[in-house]
Amino acid sequence: MFKWKPEFSVNVEEIDKQHKRLFELGGRIYDIASLKDSFDHYDEIMEVLDELRSYTDYHFKYEEKLMTRYNFEGYEEHSFEHLFFMKKLDRIEKKDIDSAQNETALDLVKFVANWIEDHILKSDMKYKDFFNSKGIR
Ligand SMILES: [Fe+2]
Ligand SMILES: [Fe+2]
Repeated sequence: MFKWKPEFSVNVEEIDKQHKRLFELGGRIYDIASLKDSFDHYDEIMEVLDELRSYTDYHFKYEEKLMTRYNFEGYEEHSFEHLFFMKKLDRIEKKDIDSAQNETALDLVKFVANWIEDHILKSDMKYKDFFNSKGIR
């Protein structure tokens, strides 16, 4: 489900590298969500959630810094979408995760899947040619 393919490339090496990390985190949470056992997975969920939180912060800031540095005209709309994903993560984190472990894992799977489909494949692709034309690859 979370397998990075060359068609997901935005043709900027460092950003592709960061996106691959998101796929990896998506795969990890997908594995946890797929477990149909009755064991406690709180610690594993929290570990992925924490990593996802710091990744989100780091990656969005990285893209936004590059956009402002080169005056990308879609900056405002793009950073607004980033904010939307951060708020979504806030909402997932605020729930009582311990008592709703499977639900949280599924929420996170959906969160990462939406991020890939609605943001990377649509919005991130919009800066591809722009950054390339500035010599960033
Ligand atoms: Fe991105
Ligand atoms: Fe982005």
